[in-house]
Amino acid sequence: MFSVAFCIGVLLIMVITNWLYNWWNPKCNGVLPPGSMGWPLLGETFHFFARNTSSDIPPFVKNRMQRYGPIFKTSLVGRPVIVSTDADLNYFIFQQEGQLFQSWYPDTFTEIFGKQNVGSLHGFMYKYLKNMVLNLFGPESLKKMLPEVEQASSVNLKRWSNRTTIDVKDATAQMIFDLTAKKLISYDSEKSPENLRESFVAFIQGLISFPLDIPGTAYHKCLQGRKKAMKMLKNMLQERRENPRKIRSDFFDYVLEELQRKDTVLTEAIALDLMFVLLFASFETTSLALTLAVKFLQEHPLVLKELTEEHEAIIKRRENPDSGLTWSEYKSMKFTFQFINETVRLANIVPGIFRKTLRETKFKGYTIPAGWAIMGIDTNGASRNFMAFGGGMRFCVGTDFTKVQMAVFLHSLVTKYKWKAIKGGDILRTPGLQFPNGFHVHIFEKDK
Ligand code: HEM
Repeated sequence: MFSVAFCIGVLLIMVITNWLYNWWNPKCNGVLPPGSMGWPLLGETFHFFARNTSSDIPPFVKNRMQRYGPIFKTSLVGRPVIVSTDADLNYFIFQQEGQLFQSWYPDTFTEIFGKQNVGSLHGFMYKYLKNMVLNLFGPESLKKMLPEVEQASSVNLKRWSNRTTIDVKDATAQMIFDLTAKKLISYDSEKSPENLRESFVAFIQGLISFPLDIPGTAYHKCLQGRKKAMKMLKNMLQERRENPRKIRSDFFDYVLEELQRKDTVLTEAIALDLMFVLLFASFETTSLALTLAVKFLQEHPLVLKELTEEHEAIIKRRENPDSGLTWSEYKSMKFTFQFINETVRLANIVPGIFRKTLRETKFKGYTIPAGWAIMGIDTNGASRNFMAFGGGMRFCVGTDFTKVQMAVFLHSLVTKYKWKAIKGGDILRTPGLQFPNGFHVHIFEKDK
């Protein structure tokens, strides 16, 4: 009896030792990048999610770069991952999309954004969806949208200037959400009995978080929010199906038309996932960037001065100073675009680009095994390496939309208003950017 138990014990120890050995020394037909796989199963997940307040390279990455160099291995949420801060490898990854690498995001992402979200689709279906999105947020649409964006900025700034304080993060998020939701699904937050935006709260925290679905975690909040928002979107689409419009006026109409076509590849589930991603991506990212922009202007008066001069000059050049912004005026905002790019770079809203290695890949003497995840991180943001909006085939489809929103809002802000910081404005990264206490300011009209 004793000897059987002893044998089982020895066998168990051997299996565990072997498993641990393989965990710390993953199989590879070459030289793996240096680095540590951390604790069994947990890997270095907790180090990765550790909160930090720096605007520099995340401490998790910086410490390992110093120890191992620009390319290192680790393990996050149960997966082996290569982290690349090497500009050449990151460029190579973008160029090889669909060949050696494929867009891949952690399970937290797919659970929250839906298994058929645009970031997880490949090949024909991906191209089809991308075209649909470009139709909505591409330059031609944006040209038409310019007066609407200006109107939204003016009306909201006027409203905010009548209050003692506003939280820039929350207020700009609401403004952009209202605009996008109107365009996509004709949703009007003031007329609707349910608050759609509420369901998107805590998203940035939950997206790249520890996937623990229990009450109290950011991940849990996100999943609950998704459920609620998807139910609302589904009901709205159904309602539209029952009461179709004569003239196509929003994205819902477009989707319904597509779904009715015999040869369509679109399904209702894919359309709803896309709607959900677009609603989220459009307001959360841009409002973070805008809040940081207002904070930077507050902290750098010379930048504010140059920005104001550029926008006042636009108005001075006009025959009628009250006429709205034109597309060529928008295109002429040289300094504004530099300021926006720099803000978005420092904001680092998408802290890493995730891919999966489709085939074993050799790079700079290292071998990356097939199936491993790669996280590309931008550490210097210079020209070719500027990755804030991604790169290659999957370059952010909302880039121009973000720039229009930001530039037009800044135009209205600096030409007509001044503001005073009241409280908040502190930055937290987990590793996504957050303003834990918001950024509260008092906005008031400039003396004419
Ligand atoms: C400051 C604002 C924004 C930043 C920093 C940002 C960043 C990014 C990045 C880095 C990617 C590439 C992800 C990858 O390669 O895996 C991306 C993709 C994407 N973005 Fe944005 N984005 C912003 C605004 C927006 C907006 C306003 C929209 C919607 C209108 C949007 C929709 C998307 C979509 C749908 C994709 C997936 C594209 C694809 O897989 O081909 N983004 N974004």
